[in-house]
Amino acid sequence: MPLVNMAPLLQKAREGGYAVGSFSVSNMEMVLGVIKAVEETKSPAIIQIAEVRLNHSPLEIIGPLMVAAAKNSSVPVAVHFDHGKTTEKIKLALDIGFTSVMLDGSHLPFEENARITAETKKLAAQYGADCEGEIGCVGGSEDGSEDIAINCTLPAQALEFYNQTGVDALAVAIGNAHGNYKQAPKLRFDILEETANLVRAPLVLHGGTGILPEDFKKCISLGINKINIATATFDSVEQSVRSAYENSAIKGYYDLQTAEVDGAYRNALKHIEIFGCAGKA
Ligand code: 13P
Repeated sequence: MPLVNMAPLLQKAREGGYAVGSFSVSNMEMVLGVIKAVEETKSPAIIQIAEVRLNHSPLEIIGPLMVAAAKNSSVPVAVHFDHGKTTEKIKLALDIGFTSVMLDGSHLPFEENARITAETKKLAAQYGADCEGEIGCVGGSEDGSEDIAINCTLPAQALEFYNQTGVDALAVAIGNAHGNYKQAPKLRFDILEETANLVRAPLVLHGGTGILPEDFKKCISLGINKINIATATFDSVEQSVRSAYENSAIKGYYDLQTAEVDGAYRNALKHIEIFGCAGKA
């Protein structure tokens, strides 16, 4: 089963009316926590890392670890390179064995975004891997280092982008943003519905942290099949460690490690239940 491509996971989710969680990880403990949750619930999953995170988690080290974890998993796991900024790192991810990549050109003019995404799709195909693109602009930035304004997807432009690039998954901007929202966002379900009616690809929702369970479910019913979760995992791990210290549960290094794994595990479990992917492995 183990390491799989992203496209078939998402096609199955599209047919089954659920979403696959795409969990950002930055160390072995997060990988172990997510894999524990998906194995226990028999869920398909995607583990991912974004290029902006590589200063803390070098791709040459975390990448092989992610691929090995997927290969050892009892459920299908795709390994995705999220928000790629450079062809150099995308190529490195593919060389390491990632089964899916994204080059994020969402901040560029349409033609430029379509051109570099189509090139990335071709590169990924040479490795037998899949490709995600983004049209419109999701707010914030993956690691919170930039405050990019939300620019909602134009459905007709999404169709043109899809036709020009042939991406396997298309990320849309419907009022969602990366990081913690000050208050739950008012998502543009109308834009999502119109886009899903036009584009025959699985759609991706970035900025999953802080979206209400009922909004996730509505997004899934309207055509979202991949949901990216990053900040919630990082927060859950930090909180788990903090509580363990407060409860004097940490007596040594391995208790600390257990608390980290547990934080990632509980966050993944919570989202798997909302996304409806339990038992779909
Ligand atoms: P959050 O940090 O808001 O969960 O967003 C994650 C994401 O979209 C990664 O691409």
